[in-house]
This record gives sequence, C-alpha cells and structure tokens, in this order.
Amino acid sequence: MPGILLGDVFPNFEADTTIGKIKFHDFLGNSWGVLFSHPRDFTPVCTTELACAAKVSDKFTQRNVKMIALSIDSVEDHVSWSKDVMAFHPDKAGTPMPFPIIADHNRKLSVQLGMLDPDELDKDGMPLTARCVFVIGPDKKLKLSILYPATTGRNFDELLRVIDSLQLTAQKKVATPVDWKPGDKIMVIPIVTLSCSRGCNQYPVCNVM
Ligand code: BEZ
Repeated sequence: MPGILLGDVFPNFEADTTIGKIKFHDFLGNSWGVLFSHPRDFTPVCTTELACAAKVSDKFTQRNVKMIALSIDSVEDHVSWSKDVMAFHPDKAGTPMPFPIIADHNRKLSVQLGMLDPDELDKDGMPLTARCVFVIGPDKKLKLSILYPATTGRNFDELLRVIDSLQLTAQKKVATPVDWKPGDKIMVIPIVTLSCSRGCNQYPVCNVM
C-alpha cells in the first residue's frame, strides 16, 4: 500500500496551492512542517477544523512550524472557501488564510501518501481524502503521522502538544509521558544493555569464542 513511514524522507512533491506552485522541500526551508488533509471544501467539519487551524496558526509559527492543508478540490474552490473559513471567527474575518492549501485535484499526492479513505466517496464514487496529519522535521523526515476518518474532527491543541514533544525529544534523549505539556516532568529513555554469559557486550551477536 502506498504511504510513508516514520523516518522516511517526505516526498519533495510539486503541487498547485493557494500561493501558487510549490516544491515541498523549498516551501519548508529549514522549518518544521505540518501537512494536514481534509475530505472536501465547504463541508461543516472541515470548516470548523480549518477555522481552528487558522486561529491557532501563530502558535505553530512560534514553534517554527509551517502549516499546509490539502484536499482534492481546486485552487479556485480553496480560495473561495477560505473566505468562509476566515469568517467563522469574527476576529479573523477579512484576513487571508494564514497557510496555503494544496489542490490535489488528480489525487496523485493523496495516493502517493496513502491519504485516501476507500469508505468515504464523492458523488462520482471516487474516494475522498481522510483527515491525515504529517509532521515533518527540518531534516525533511516524517516525525509523526495520524489518520482520522472524515467523521471525526481533529484537535489542534493536541497537535501543538505533540509538536512540543517532538521538538524536545529531537534535541534531548528524553521521552514525554501521557498528557505531557511543556514544564511537566520528562523521562530519561531507559537504555537496556544486554550481555552474554561470558561478558561480551555485543549480545545477541556474541564475539567471545
Ligand atoms: C465534513 O467536513 O463535515 C464532512 C466531510 C466528509 C464526510 C463527513 C463530514
């Protein structure tokens, strides 16, 4: 099945977006990135999600994370829908969407990244994109992926929380426990050293003959 695994270099795809054509790695530069897909423009749950994403976008910027959304709709639809989305929060009405949206009209990228939901079909029987989240590090490698069905909206505070953990654990050899937030206690990663009965520390490839 097509898709991308943790640690893989994220594809340096070209795409049409609301800010023009991009090459993904150039778009990211030295920043972290979050690419998140939604099933369809002009639908209720997607509108609440993108409105929330726009509202908290400053918090992603503060963390040096570039946001980019994606659906199978056209750039024209994205531009028109963005106005509805921004009107959802009165304090943001009239301001531009603070991140671009990719138009994956031929589903090429959605297939490549394993984002299509075979159970969620459009009126022509074609699969829609699920609610995927990919967090990409400055090394362009995939650090986290989450996949939600169309019927379940995401929590962008949770995405900020996991990004705080990913950025901390990229710098220090620690792990963050359940519900961790910055300032909470962290854990030192347990390192188990195994040795064979003759004292060789190369277990399980013993080199003491
Ligand atoms: C929505 O965004 O409201 C939605 C889209 C596709 C399927 C279900 C819900």
